[in-house]
Amino acid sequence: MKRYLKICALLSALTVTVCGCDAQPTNSRPTSGVSSLIVINTVSEPSSSSSDVQANAPVRSDKIVSEDMTIAAAETLTVKSGETLYIRDGAEFTVDGTVNCERGGSIKIQSGGNLLLNGKLILDGSLELGGFLGIREKGEIYGAGLLTVLNSFEDINCEGTCLAKIKAPAPVEKDGVTYVGGVLIVNKKYSVPEDYGAELGLVIDDAYNALLQMREDTGYSLPLVSGYRSYELQTELFDYYCEIDDYDKVIMYSAQPGHSEHQTGLAMDIGELSEDYVNTEEGRWLTDNCCKYGFVIRFPKGCEHKTGYDYEPWHIRWLGKSTAKLVYDSGLTLEEFLGVEPM
Ligand code: DAL
Ligand code: ZN
Repeated sequence: MKRYLKICALLSALTVTVCGCDAQPTNSRPTSGVSSLIVINTVSEPSSSSSDVQANAPVRSDKIVSEDMTIAAAETLTVKSGETLYIRDGAEFTVDGTVNCERGGSIKIQSGGNLLLNGKLILDGSLELGGFLGIREKGEIYGAGLLTVLNSFEDINCEGTCLAKIKAPAPVEKDGVTYVGGVLIVNKKYSVPEDYGAELGLVIDDAYNALLQMREDTGYSLPLVSGYRSYELQTELFDYYCEIDDYDKVIMYSAQPGHSEHQTGLAMDIGELSEDYVNTEEGRWLTDNCCKYGFVIRFPKGCEHKTGYDYEPWHIRWLGKSTAKLVYDSGLTLEEFLGVEPM
């Protein structure tokens, strides 16, 4: 318990600015005209050199959306095995009804293309996201297929539900910091430079504003116990824990300097630094609802071997509303979701 008191004492040095609430961007419905789907390239599968077989081969249609169009609420568009639905640069493809992408079928949202989902996307095939995907509040993606994010998680605005598996882009290192699809990752394997975050001194505004919003919406006090921690402070804490505890225990609850999310200003410890926090009304609420405000419980229960840390129902990590919802819906740890190693 001593270590928690020490954090509290050190925190008193921190100040936190309160900024105006950032409204989460929403995607307005397209107002432009609606045209019919353009179906082209009906070709025989070039799967065999035998003309007999080729004559009986399945016919493949590639569907190309090159201007704004809508699948109405009562309509279903099926993308069959072998078919590809392309959503081209500049086109907004709004789905109020259903798109059924069967196993072996594929959807490619190309750079500058937009898929806006109010209805359902049954994804048993593949979806390659090079453009933008808006999953509105009632929008749902499910199925056994794979959604591959080519560039950034900012290319998805998820206000609805995505239960399909998501494949993240490969990690990219920039100035000693590792990002996966724009999401900063720091854990036992990935670190940040010693001077990273020095200019922050605080948790980032979006995360702090989201905390204020959670308090306002619930009436819970949700005290901020620890927010931004410099490399030096993390060093001090880690060394202190090693004085009072076994090293093998310490590394399960304290990050080594350079390896703490607290140094990024993206993490906050809320409430009580005790596993029992989740058994309080407030702590339970935080676990169940923080994703709606843009956070995930970073070190979930029973995932010690996947995150490298003991369960911490108090440590929340800011990802933004959309990505937090995707991670929450996936039921995965952040490492699993991003496809990176924890240690
Ligand atoms: N308690 C977490 C792992 C940290 O020190 O960042
Ligand atoms: Zn923490």
